[in-house]
Amino acid sequence: MQKVTKNKWVIGNWKSNPSSLEQAKKLAKEIKVMNFSEINGQIMVMPTSLHLTAIIDEMQNSEVLVGCQDVSFTSDSVGAYTGDCSAEQMQAIGAKWTLVGHSERRSYHQESDKQLIAKIENAFKNGLGVVLCIGETLEHYEKNQTLNVLQKQLSILKEIKQLADNLDRLIVAYEPVWAIGTGKVPQVAEVENVHKSINDYLLTINNDLAKTPILYGGSVNADNVENFAKSDWIDGVLVGGASLVADKFASLAKTFFATKK
Ligand code: PGA
Repeated sequence: MQKVTKNKWVIGNWKSNPSSLEQAKKLAKEIKVMNFSEINGQIMVMPTSLHLTAIIDEMQNSEVLVGCQDVSFTSDSVGAYTGDCSAEQMQAIGAKWTLVGHSERRSYHQESDKQLIAKIENAFKNGLGVVLCIGETLEHYEKNQTLNVLQKQLSILKEIKQLADNLDRLIVAYEPVWAIGTGKVPQVAEVENVHKSINDYLLTINNDLAKTPILYGGSVNADNVENFAKSDWIDGVLVGGASLVADKFASLAKTFFATKK
């Protein structure tokens, strides 16, 4: 099957790291000075909401985009939603993209499809791009239910009213839950097959989703990234642990884009 050329991405999800604002700023400064001018794609980091403003400031005039890890489910831009930050607030301080549906949000916060739909709609309404994270658990994987689970997780896109107007603001990140933070990675051929199925399924929702980048995430590091980058079906990587050390993240990103050339 001929594959459409898609944008390429390396995204660092800092999760709830590092422990201080000073360390977060130091990490951003160290990443910023790495020379990414040669790359044929986009690099983005996603700090905690608490550090977001400072990291957006640090990354001014650099090639590195800054996004957030979550937005509130509520369409109110302000209000009585303790602990939440609205998409409008995120956009107003300069975030460009948000993760939605990361497996840690799904499992620790019991995020429902209804909430995920609301988050995506809020993000689009406020001009934020969405990295929709999907992935199967080990149990699903072992029972060969991966594709069913992923299709169910992707099917929420059918409910997004503004989808057609935001096709260039959508990325799908396939992250097997069992590969996140464990050092275990699936075979590249397995990921490739899953990505092909994701691509096929997206086309059943809207033909123009042919351009949606499909990223792999789960224990990606500077040593294994080349294998993933070699696949035409892997348009980028979403990186957790290995995005927290600047030179490792920079070397990972450079290897990814150099392999894609
Ligand atoms: P990991 O995390 O690279 O530490 O496995 C990836 C993710 O959760 O996005």
